[in-house]
Amino acid sequence: MLFRKFMTAIFAISALAGQAQEKQFSIIPEPAEITVAGEGTVQIERGMLVRVSDSSLVASADFLADYTNRYLGIPLRVDVPKKGKKRTADKAVNGIVLVNRNNGEVSGGYRLEVIPGTGIRIEGNDAAGVFYGVQTLIQMLPVRAGVLPILAAAKVVDYPRFAYRGMHLDVVRHFFPVEFIKKYIDYLALHKLNYFHWHLTDDQAWRVEMKCRPELTAKGSVREGEIEGLYPGKYQPLPYGGYYTHEDVREVVRYAAERYITVIPEIDIPGHCMAVLATYPQFSTTPDEPKKCALTWGIFNKFNNVLAPKPEVFDFLKDVFSELCDLFPGQYIHVGGDECAKRWWQESEQTQRFMRDHGLADEKALQSYFIHYVQDVVNAKGKTLVGWDEILEGGISEDCIIMNWRRPNYGVKALKTGHRAIFACSAWSYFNMKESRTQSEIGPRGPLSLEKVYDFQIVPDSLTDRQTELIWGAQGCLWTEYIPTTWKVEFSLFPRMAALAENVWSPVEKKSWDNFSRKVEMQCERYELWGARYSDAFFRLQDIVRKR
Ligand code: ACM
Repeated sequence: MLFRKFMTAIFAISALAGQAQEKQFSIIPEPAEITVAGEGTVQIERGMLVRVSDSSLVASADFLADYTNRYLGIPLRVDVPKKGKKRTADKAVNGIVLVNRNNGEVSGGYRLEVIPGTGIRIEGNDAAGVFYGVQTLIQMLPVRAGVLPILAAAKVVDYPRFAYRGMHLDVVRHFFPVEFIKKYIDYLALHKLNYFHWHLTDDQAWRVEMKCRPELTAKGSVREGEIEGLYPGKYQPLPYGGYYTHEDVREVVRYAAERYITVIPEIDIPGHCMAVLATYPQFSTTPDEPKKCALTWGIFNKFNNVLAPKPEVFDFLKDVFSELCDLFPGQYIHVGGDECAKRWWQESEQTQRFMRDHGLADEKALQSYFIHYVQDVVNAKGKTLVGWDEILEGGISEDCIIMNWRRPNYGVKALKTGHRAIFACSAWSYFNMKESRTQSEIGPRGPLSLEKVYDFQIVPDSLTDRQTELIWGAQGCLWTEYIPTTWKVEFSLFPRMAALAENVWSPVEKKSWDNFSRKVEMQCERYELWGARYSDAFFRLQDIVRKR
């Protein structure tokens, strides 16, 4: 009897320990290796010291301290090294130590150890690796304030699968203030994503200040009205506008850089340009018909008017892309290039003459002429051009990066013609699609379930090794025609962004829907901790009632 009681107690304790361990290791994206390292624990306590090996890691230490303080009510003390001084950071006892090994191994890789009696040690292959180790530590913490953060002895060894792990946001169809853009960047960081693709211009608005052309935002950032509800919807004569100043951009870029995120700005040409044409109708193929050059409302229309090939248009492109290159310090500039309605060029005598004069055989060649022109401007600034997969039409030089939004065969074509490619195929990566058939909060398209996002095969079959190497990574996109509010942004993103994150970060052998779907519950508790909205479609599809 006594023996049975004793055994029951042992089982109960180990079941609890197992549960705690499952919680401690409910990490998304799944790390490459997790080892439970024997007995003992480390508790993160109020005022615990965070020491860094050099000042470049202070931002990562601050990120951690801000998180534990804001969400768990546990302030930490960041020990800032004296300017220019390096220290080994080895002496800290019972603290958190961040070390940049700078060892030339895979960028973003790190080791994290929970060492009883000593504390927590994160060693990155580089500074980005330390930051990702911090994100893993954050995910080992409780998802509720008040639960003591007691971590079992463990070792995590981890590194990213792809160098490009991106997320896009359309701020044109609906505008979001800088404070929310920073929050969005935090969401990327917390999922170990490292590129923010900022879609800044389109048919509905121009949303970035251009000192060289102030009219673009004076006129092109405000539309007369909105439509409410699903297309064709109900017109509301409610002026709608907003744009980012140079100062705003610099603030966003700085904030992103502290989180090891590069911002890629997109100015979409030669289609999706109604905001330019509303400002400068003379740049269109129909300068005498202003009605054909007006900003459109909230809804996408792939038959909209486009830029005409005129000297003043090429001067304009040179000015704005040069300014964009100077404003954004990152290496990459996105030219758009998608869904250019060629019929405007076919119907324009001036355009047809231009094509004949320049030996352009068809409208695809003209599209290519525009893209080449911008590429020269961007290359002259030492930067690299990225464009949607249509930029392959009519030919484009190898050093342009192709962002594949249509079916994956366009990405494969890019790889086969020697281009680096980012897979953002709409069927798996457009989070503006509703998540389940019956979901009404997002938009009419879809469904795109969590499992489908997770299942996206980023590396297509039957590629050569060289072609596989050219796959730079993958990206999720959020088009905001039907997403006017920040809560809808969050609701559309979560938890599907977690599936994207695991798909682009974790080693392919670690990919397991069963394991991932077990972790989603806790991930959603994290979203609750952050005060972020998320969709519960996954739980409904699985017929699981979320515990609160
Ligand atoms: C796109 O969805 N037109 C890139």
